[in-house]
Amino acid sequence: MAKTQTSPTIIFIFGGTGDLAHRKLMPALYNLYLDNYLCDKLSIIGIGRSEYTNDSYRQYIKEGIKEFSRRKEEINGQWDVFSQFIEYMRLDLGKNEAYQSMADFIKKKEEDWKAEPTIVYYMSVAPQLAPTISQKLYEAKITTNPAKSRIVFEKPFGHSLESAKELNTILGKMFKEEQIYRIDHYLGKETVQNILAFRFANALFEPVWNKHYIDHVQITAAETVSVEGRGNYYEQAGALRDMVQNHILQLLCMIAMEAPVSFNADEIRNKKVDVLNAIRKFNKTDVYKNAVRGQYGSGWLKGEEIKSYRLEPNVTPKSPVETFAAVKFFVDNWRWKDVPFYVRTGKALTEKISLITIQFKPSPNYAFPKEATETWRPNRLTISIQPEMDIRLRFQAKQTGPSMNLQPVDMVYRYANEEDQPEAYETLLLDIIEGDATLFMRADQVEAAWEVITPILEIWHSKPPVDFPNYSPGTWGPEDSEALIAQDGHHWVTLPIDEGNKKVPK
Ligand code: BG6
Repeated sequence: MAKTQTSPTIIFIFGGTGDLAHRKLMPALYNLYLDNYLCDKLSIIGIGRSEYTNDSYRQYIKEGIKEFSRRKEEINGQWDVFSQFIEYMRLDLGKNEAYQSMADFIKKKEEDWKAEPTIVYYMSVAPQLAPTISQKLYEAKITTNPAKSRIVFEKPFGHSLESAKELNTILGKMFKEEQIYRIDHYLGKETVQNILAFRFANALFEPVWNKHYIDHVQITAAETVSVEGRGNYYEQAGALRDMVQNHILQLLCMIAMEAPVSFNADEIRNKKVDVLNAIRKFNKTDVYKNAVRGQYGSGWLKGEEIKSYRLEPNVTPKSPVETFAAVKFFVDNWRWKDVPFYVRTGKALTEKISLITIQFKPSPNYAFPKEATETWRPNRLTISIQPEMDIRLRFQAKQTGPSMNLQPVDMVYRYANEEDQPEAYETLLLDIIEGDATLFMRADQVEAAWEVITPILEIWHSKPPVDFPNYSPGTWGPEDSEALIAQDGHHWVTLPIDEGNKKVPK
């Protein structure tokens, strides 16, 4: 959808003093303002329990922008105008009066602006608080116009298939589905959105985008950070819930989905849900064969000492929670039958890197003499989501010189400077204000994703791991993860160290 300036908008951020608001939401809103997307009839209300005046809250937000925004410097002048849109409300969200104050605020703005604003209610709070806040918003009758009010939920959306269904049912009784925005911030990343453009704006790839030409697909979302004090949350989550149920399955959907007929939000989401429904659901044996879990112990990573996961605050000393997961999925449909989709994610790994690899099958016949083809490799497409942002296609070329020797080379499309790219939250917040749900998870999508990982969770839960911790910080996870892919004759691809993928100078 082409972006224009928004109409009058009020944004309530529950958890306005929290980390997400500080690091992501407010910097994103400021960048949208700097880029002229937000109109001057704008109110951003941080809601929290701490003591702040409007001024001290604005100061706190400004510090967040200076530290975390992609444009740290661009504060002059414009900040003074923008900061006047921000206010702070100290409210106890368990009490009805809180919602009455919000209703009064909305009414006052409507009178001042002589317009009915779009109202965004953003749940940047612990997930267990979201149902109560939703209920009270509903009772206060400040979400009654589905065309003008939106309720935004951060992940995790539910903790299991059952709890996600329950939450969807509760919300479904109070709000229309089109009012509910379930965020998966990966979908807001430029490089992720570009997958749709790459696949569906180019006729070149479609004929080979299937089991006849593609050998396998890999998705890596590796992080160097450890759990970093988030033990409370992570003990309830683990890598499978934290990264695979949402971000990684969404990436898999973008690679595996059929071409949409239009860019209508429901059309795109229908095509993705088809993929989730087609993913083979594991039985017990499949889980043993196709899923690997790991947990980091103590060690060193890039010169820094990392404490074992089990020594993190709020983590039990014998915690069975996985900080690493690798799974071999299959999408049982006509296009992908028996093509493995290897995915892996973990904390405290060697590099921070999110990468999708499409490995093509080798050429059917090597017509060149053996000495010419020593370094012959099958074609490979790699989509680097972060921190490198590029797409590269590996193909064979003749080495310059008198003899016919072949070598793999890369054709690279590199994105412009990272600083110029809108952050995921900028894209997502603007879409929410404009009412474009394409990049958000529909109820059935969330449930279908839970259905994929539930059998793995159940088996893992019933059989606590005996070998944890089983990998050291600064490695690529447990050895079983290498074995998972090596047994099929492949290896995990990483950039830029992998052969044939020399880093392109900036
Ligand atoms: C979040 C997870 O959804 O994604 C975190 O809860 C993880 O554990 C983060 O660190 C990774 O996001 P990104 O954008 O840095 O890849």
